[in-house]
Amino acid sequence: MSLLKRIEKKEPAQTAPPASVGGNSMPPPVESMSRQRQTPAPPVDKMVELRARLLSKIIAELDPKLDIGRSDDLRRNVEELFNQFLAEESDVVLGRVERQRLLDQLTAEIMGFGPLEPLLRDNTISEVMVNGPNMIYIERNGKIERVSARFDSDMHIMRIIDRIVAPLGRRVDEGQPFVDARLPDGSRVNIIIPPLALNGPTITIRKFAKIPLTSDDLIQRGAFTKEFDEFVKACVKARLNMVVSGGTGTGKTTMLNIFSSYIPNDERIITIEDAAELQLRQEHVVSLESRSKNIEGRGEVTRGDLVINALRMRPDRIIVGECRSGEALDMLQAMNTGHEGSMTTVHANTPRDALHRLETMVLMAGFDLPLKAIREQIASAVDVIVQLERMRDGTRKIVNLAEIQGMEGDVIISQEVFRWENAGVKDGKVLGALKATGIRPKFIERIEAAGIFLPPSIFGLDPRFYQ
Ligand SMILES: Nc1ncnc2c1ncn2[C@@H]1O[C@H](COP(=O)(O)OP(=O)(O)O)[C@@H](O)[C@H]1O
Ligand SMILES: [Mg+2]
Repeated sequence: MSLLKRIEKKEPAQTAPPASVGGNSMPPPVESMSRQRQTPAPPVDKMVELRARLLSKIIAELDPKLDIGRSDDLRRNVEELFNQFLAEESDVVLGRVERQRLLDQLTAEIMGFGPLEPLLRDNTISEVMVNGPNMIYIERNGKIERVSARFDSDMHIMRIIDRIVAPLGRRVDEGQPFVDARLPDGSRVNIIIPPLALNGPTITIRKFAKIPLTSDDLIQRGAFTKEFDEFVKACVKARLNMVVSGGTGTGKTTMLNIFSSYIPNDERIITIEDAAELQLRQEHVVSLESRSKNIEGRGEVTRGDLVINALRMRPDRIIVGECRSGEALDMLQAMNTGHEGSMTTVHANTPRDALHRLETMVLMAGFDLPLKAIREQIASAVDVIVQLERMRDGTRKIVNLAEIQGMEGDVIISQEVFRWENAGVKDGKVLGALKATGIRPKFIERIEAAGIFLPPSIFGLDPRFYQ
């Protein structure tokens, strides 16, 4: 958006609740709007007024020709104007810290995402949730907490929303009251506004982890063990087909990223996602993104379409970010027709449930296949299902790794190789361990054929008996 447009969008000064930015302390309980209006203005409102006054003066004065892309120039310009206008406020005396904070807030308003800016910059925060102007929550270390950052009003949020979606050529208004978008850093954003959202304009941001979590990070956090890691590394190298299963936010994409990091460097990898999240370190990667219908209902390209296209791109591996519908069958067929070593995630709560979900996806896609045929496809395509769970204490853990062995009659047979064993809760922390069940999977032959020899201790077996 041009600076000029932004200036036109400027809203009049507000006398709204104090807008403290950043800070992680719990805010005071939210009062109803009517009560807030009756409350005599505390001194902090002076800051809000000052901020609003300076903001409109700076915006009015900024050179509209200034290129927003050249942020250093803009920042310098904002700071000069800030100093000039603050000096004109003869009855205002600010300490050094207060002055800097005010400048930061104004810069964030003019150039960035306002009160969200410090939250987006804080790398310990993984998710930001705005439920109307006075309620902002964040997720940190798997726990949700409320922060004291606020917007001045619904209008204020809408201005920031515009700033998020405008560069993508999108709008959020009554005609299009909800939208998915992406921040320049890759973070995923969902926006939904009144009258659909009753709290006021609502923003949910899944922040893009700048440095993806590595297996060492996850081992350190207790998500899985070294043995498990060594085992899945062997599975990936031996080109087993793997499915990561878990609920929303349990760490499926993170896990898929780790699995894919074990793919050898000399393979051609094609990734298929709705919004590119995977961050592969290999050089030879082709990333494809699906596309939803446009307003006229045309131009849709599904994940399934992309899987079929990927087959013509000489892939060594196909990675589908998420299987949610019709692409399941395409994916299974790819896995069954010489594209071993492919991976995907499904939304399910147990490995059994994951199998069931795959089945349902194929059925729902309207292919007229008998159930048994579908199950056979699944059983022969999928080798491993890894199950993730988000525990009560907010930690995410691998709770299961199951080998899919084949069919017996009409039933898919699976066998657990690793299982989380619960040992209760202490001081709010979930105790337990991911243990090998003592069963060597049947596909160990494929792992050994790939030249990888895992020590029996990985499977919880006594090495003396397995020389
Ligand atoms: N084991 C873990 N420990 C801590 N945080 C994790 C773990 N796994 C994933 N995360 C974080 O949890 C959030 C959700 O992870 P993601 O992989 O996107 O989940 P999903 O794909 O299941 O929705 C991300 O911010 C990610 O960095
Ligand atoms: Mg995901």
